[in-house]
Amino acid sequence: MTSRKAARWEGQTVDDLQDRWDRPQVHLYSRIDSTNSRARELAEEGAQAGTLVLADEQTSGRGQVGRRWYSPRGTGLYLSFIFRPKQEVSPRLMPLLAGLGVLRAIERLVKGVNLGLKWPNDLILDDRKLGGVLSEASWSGRETHHVVVGVGINVNNEAEGFPDSLRQVATSIRAAVGRKVSRLELADFVIREVEEFCADPPEALDREQLKLFDEYDWLRDRRCTVEREGAPSVHGTVVGVAPDGALLYRPDRGALERMTSGRVLTEELPTPDF
Ligand code: BTN
Repeated sequence: MTSRKAARWEGQTVDDLQDRWDRPQVHLYSRIDSTNSRARELAEEGAQAGTLVLADEQTSGRGQVGRRWYSPRGTGLYLSFIFRPKQEVSPRLMPLLAGLGVLRAIERLVKGVNLGLKWPNDLILDDRKLGGVLSEASWSGRETHHVVVGVGINVNNEAEGFPDSLRQVATSIRAAVGRKVSRLELADFVIREVEEFCADPPEALDREQLKLFDEYDWLRDRRCTVEREGAPSVHGTVVGVAPDGALLYRPDRGALERMTSGRVLTEELPTPDF
C-alpha cells in the first residue's frame, strides 16, 4: 500500500496543527495502512516524544488481538501518539489510562452522553462500540524505549453507514447526538487529555484514577465469559479493575480471580472484528 501525505486536515495545515497542539511533529496522511505502524517506524527512527501520526483514512487499521479497525475516509479520528516514558511502564496500564483520557475528552465535546470503558481497551457509547485504544510498546530489558498509543473513534459515521457485520454493535458520536461534530475540536481535547494521562504514567492506578475507572467501568457487575490464552473459558461476573490494571472477576464457581491479558465477552456486546 502506498501511503499518501496530506497537506491539510479539517482545513488546518501541518504547521497549524503542530502549533495548535504544541507538538514537535505532526505526520499527516490522507491515507495510510495504519497510523500505529507508521508511528512505530518513526519511533524506531528516533522521533521525539509527543510526535503524532494522524490520518483521514486507514486501509489496514489494526485493533487488539489481531482485529481490524474499520477506518473509512473523512468520518473518524485515527490518531497515534509516541510516548517515551521516563520510568518502566506496565503495558496493562497504558490502554486504560488512554481510554480514560479519551472518554474525558469526548465529555468535554458533547454533554450528557452515556460513555463506558470496557476492559482493557474498548470505548463504549450507549452499549455499543464507539472506539478503541491500541497500545504497543518496545522494551530492552526493563527499559521502555517508546510506547505508541493509537486511538480510533467513530465520529461522524452515519448509523446506516457501518458494514452489515458492525451495524448492530458499533456506533458513532454523530449517531448518539444526532448531529455532526468537529473532528478538529475532538482531536484538541483527545490530545490534551491523553497526553495528561499517558505522558508520565504511574506504576499503578492511583485512587483518583481508580475512582474514574469505576465511574466508566462498563463491565462491572456484568455476566461475562472470560477467555484467557491457553486456558478454558470461564463464566462469571466482573468485579472491577485492580491498581495494576488487571481485571477482577468472580467465576460462577470459585473465588475472586485476576486476569492480566485475555478477552471478556458479554451477551450485550460480543466482541466483533472491527
Ligand atoms: C481495538 O478496539 O481493538 C483498538 C482499535 C484501535 C484503532 C486505532 S485507529 C488509530 C490507530 N492505528 C491503528 O492501526 N489502530 C489504532
